[in-house]
Amino acid sequence: ELEQRGPDAHLRMVLRSPNSERTPEDLELIYEDLCMQKALAHLPNSVKRELASVVVFEAHPKLGHTLFRQGDEGKAWYLILHGAVTVETYSKGVVETLYEGEDFGGLALIHNVPRSATITVKEDNTHLLRVDKDSYNKIVRDIETNTVKLKEIGNDVLVLEKSPRLHKYMIIAGTPQKILEHLLEHRLSNTNVAGSRNDPCLDDFLLTHIVFMPTRTLVSELNKYYHMENPAQDREYTINCKRKVVQFVYRWVVTIRHPVFDDVVSMSFLEELASDVEADCQLLGGKSQALQEEASLMHHIMSRLRRYQDERLETSGLKWKLPPGGQPICLFTAMNSTSKNSSRSIIRPMDDIIFRVYCADHTFCTLRLPVNATAEAIKVGAYEKCSLRHPVSDLRIVEVKSNGERVPFRDSEHSIPTTVALNSCIFLTPKDHMDALTCVPEQEKSEGAEISGDFESLSTKELAYHMTLFDWELFWNVHEYELIYLTFGRHRFQQITANLDIFLRRFNEIQYWVITEICMSQNISKRTNILKKMIKLATYCKEYYNFNAFFAILMGLSDVAVSRLSTTWDKLPSKSRKQFTEYETLIDPSRNHRAYRITVGKLPSPMIPFMPLLIKDMKFTHDGNKTHVDGLVNFEKMHMLAQTMRTLRYCRIRHLVLDPPVSKNEADVKSYVSCLRCINNERTLMSMSQKLEPRRT
Ligand code: CMP
Repeated sequence: ELEQRGPDAHLRMVLRSPNSERTPEDLELIYEDLCMQKALAHLPNSVKRELASVVVFEAHPKLGHTLFRQGDEGKAWYLILHGAVTVETYSKGVVETLYEGEDFGGLALIHNVPRSATITVKEDNTHLLRVDKDSYNKIVRDIETNTVKLKEIGNDVLVLEKSPRLHKYMIIAGTPQKILEHLLEHRLSNTNVAGSRNDPCLDDFLLTHIVFMPTRTLVSELNKYYHMENPAQDREYTINCKRKVVQFVYRWVVTIRHPVFDDVVSMSFLEELASDVEADCQLLGGKSQALQEEASLMHHIMSRLRRYQDERLETSGLKWKLPPGGQPICLFTAMNSTSKNSSRSIIRPMDDIIFRVYCADHTFCTLRLPVNATAEAIKVGAYEKCSLRHPVSDLRIVEVKSNGERVPFRDSEHSIPTTVALNSCIFLTPKDHMDALTCVPEQEKSEGAEISGDFESLSTKELAYHMTLFDWELFWNVHEYELIYLTFGRHRFQQITANLDIFLRRFNEIQYWVITEICMSQNISKRTNILKKMIKLATYCKEYYNFNAFFAILMGLSDVAVSRLSTTWDKLPSKSRKQFTEYETLIDPSRNHRAYRITVGKLPSPMIPFMPLLIKDMKFTHDGNKTHVDGLVNFEKMHMLAQTMRTLRYCRIRHLVLDPPVSKNEADVKSYVSCLRCINNERTLMSMSQKLEPRRT
């Protein structure tokens, strides 16, 4: 009966013969048999023909034989013809049984890494087909099944898919633990840290793990892996696990930077790991100097951490100020811009922010609270200072926009001062009085701060230069994580997006400043002049690769309040007109901003990207893809999110260095750029525009 299920006696004999002795008839016989194997059904027949000359038959009459162990070098790929084998890992014991028609052992070959599991024959009379590594790489590797599913106790735990371009499996889905385990085992180079730099899966994981695996879980898994026991007492294996963890942590710190140091959980993990590695280096190192390189990596990380902590101490008293109308932006950054210390002007959750809270009668109090304070905290703070007769539970924090729109906050919402819109004010009001709130005069006036200098008299090139430096600083402070926080909701992570908020607000500021400048010019020739100068400004911004400002200016110029001023446009020199038309195609949103994407795709770093588009990409990815599918993390979604986050990183690979233009009045230009006046009430702007050029009837 057994004979019937396995290959017949003749075939077995043929399969056992050395490959070089196989006759054409033998090969034909093997080929026909391979054609009937379910596990090979996906392979083209031409490949089966090639396989016929290289497969070796392996029979295991008794159960219990171990084919190879976790950590061994990978030498062959196997296919089960009959019987079963168990898959066992050091961390979990037996995780799965594989049966007839299933294959195993390809992972180690394709990634050129040690075996990720121990394989033991589970049934008597187990028959296998074996293809050695060289033949596998020559024949099977490129066409072998595109999807690999690893199971544990019958459930999928990791789904991989071959990337033809990279000769690697990409992670498609998996449980957080298995994904991490796979990364540690397959995606870190054995020999050096640099080797793993280019693995996109590792980078994807580092950038997005907070979505599906909180840092607390991550570090506890890393800890387990670092201290992994292996029953075979294999010293090499033990050392290897420790190396992997250190290398992983090193990449983590390099990729994510300060948020790793800001989080108490990861910080104390780092401290502990550093001392463990130190101890293990002494204990296990000996003559072989094992873990030496890892110890020095940990030193490197720890000195980075210390430097960061010192820096934080220096700036611990940092406070930010929200001007009455939410403007100008410069108050958020200008304080330390001369400092060489790049992390100084980053807004952090525990920094204080000073801002006003208004009451319905436009009296106000000034509060100083941490940036991440909740609406509840603001409510209580303001309640103590203002004399309202209502019980605090009846009160609400409301944003009143410059167009009069009112947006109430839930008590649990946080980082309100930085998230309110340009020219918005924060109000404290009894719930049922909300509809009676009106704007305070500051919101409607055109300036938040006194204006120094006049747009027309300043050099356009100098303006573009200083605007770009200003924007660069804001852009530099935005962390990739903020894109995730914004997309998935800040509250989910208890984190702030203040740096991103401020940068986006700057976009609006520039956009409305353009409209305001034009609508405030009474005289037609002055207005034409300003229009021309704005187009010129856009040109310079584009030359500096400041696409954020470029888009803001162009969108300002395309606003109806400006575009309807046909007399002004008619007087524009044809050169400017032509340039504007050309720019309009660049900002054209059709086909998902194709024109812009193609243009920037070809440009080198550094540049300042059109930020709202990155936000849109994140949101689309998020809305269009589930985070979990069938209980597994949808890693393809993580990959897409990480792609967008990498754009940010790419733009800043190099620090911006521009040749300063010949300066006539640098101080004036700088202060002008940081305090742009702007009205952002569409209705006000429209009526100003109508007064300038009443529609002819
Ligand atoms: P490789 O790492 O080369 O050697 C062990 C093999 O076991 C591995 O390739 C996979 O083909 C197979 N395998 C099946 N299920 C699992 C699992 N849950 N974890 C690890 N390996 C598995």
